[in-house]
Amino acid sequence: MPFTIANVQPEDTSPIIVAENLTKVYDTGRIQVPAVRGVSLAVERGEFVAIVGPSGSGKSTLFYLLGGLTRATEGRVVIDGVDFASLSDAERTRLRKHRIGFVFQKFNLLPTLSAMGNIEIAYEVSGRTEPLDRVYLDHLSDMLSIQGRLKHRPSELSGGEQQRVAIARALITRPAIVLADEPTGNLDTKNSDAVLRMLVRSNRELGQTTLMITHNPEAASIASRILYMRDGEIVREEKGSRWEADLAVPEPAVGASPMAV
Ligand SMILES: Nc1ncnc2c1ncn2[C@@H]1O[C@H](COP(=O)(O)OP(=O)(O)OP(=O)(O)O)[C@@H](O)[C@H]1O
Ligand SMILES: [Mg+2]
Repeated sequence: MPFTIANVQPEDTSPIIVAENLTKVYDTGRIQVPAVRGVSLAVERGEFVAIVGPSGSGKSTLFYLLGGLTRATEGRVVIDGVDFASLSDAERTRLRKHRIGFVFQKFNLLPTLSAMGNIEIAYEVSGRTEPLDRVYLDHLSDMLSIQGRLKHRPSELSGGEQQRVAIARALITRPAIVLADEPTGNLDTKNSDAVLRMLVRSNRELGQTTLMITHNPEAASIASRILYMRDGEIVREEKGSRWEADLAVPEPAVGASPMAV
C-alpha cells in the first residue's frame, strides 16, 4: 500500500514559506543584539534550500523565526498563506506540530524517554490520526543506522546518535516542511552522507520542502538553492552544485520504496 502525504498540495503554486523584512533583536537587558536584520525570502513548495554562514551570523535565529518558535521584532512569516502573527499561541503550536518537522542544533530530545519514546511522542503530538507506521520507522532507523539504539535514553547515546534520532523524530510524521539546523554537525562523513541522502530522498519522494542550516559548504551543495548569511542578512544566493548529481540521486530501492508516494 503506497504512502500518501495528505498535507502536500502540489497544485498550489504559491511559496510555502514567505519571510518579509524579518528582524530579530535579542534584548539582553544591558545590550541589544540584532541577530537577524531585514531578511526577505520565499521558498517554493518542494524546494531544498540550504542556509550557510559563519557562527553567529543568525542562522539558528532565522530557523526559530521561520518555524514560529520565536516572535519577530519586525516583519512577518507566512506559512502556506497563514501569517504566524495572525494566530493565537495554540493555533501557532498546532500549525507547527502538524506541518513542520524540526531538527534542532542541540537535538532537544526528552531526557527521560528512550529514543523510540522520543520518536513516538513526536508522532502523537503531531495530531496524526492514523497509527504510527512501524514499517516506515524501521526504514528511517535503518537508513539512519539507529536500529540497535532505539531503547536507549539520550544520555546513553553519542552526539551523532542523538542527532540521527532527532532526524528520525522530525521525519516520522512526513511533515510538509522540514527545518533542520546543522543536521550533520556531529556526524562523520559516512553518517553525514547517509543523513543528507535521507533528507534529499524524503524531500523528493514526499514532495517535502526542506530548509537545512549548515556551515559545511560540501553539505550545502546538495541543496537546490544555497542562501549565504552574514551578520544577520542574506548576502548572496546560488544553486547547489550537487543537486542534480551523485548524492541527490536516491539509491535504488530494494523492492518497493517504503517512501514512495
Ligand atoms: N537568546 C539570545 N540572547 C541574546 N543573544 C543571542 C541569543 N541567541 C543568539 N544570540 C546572538 O545572536 C547572534 C546570532 O546567533 P545564532 O544562534 O542565530 O547564530 P548561528 O548563525 O546559528 O551560529 P552557530 O553557527 O554558532 O550556530 C549571535 O551574535 C548570538 O550571540
Ligand atoms: Mg546556530
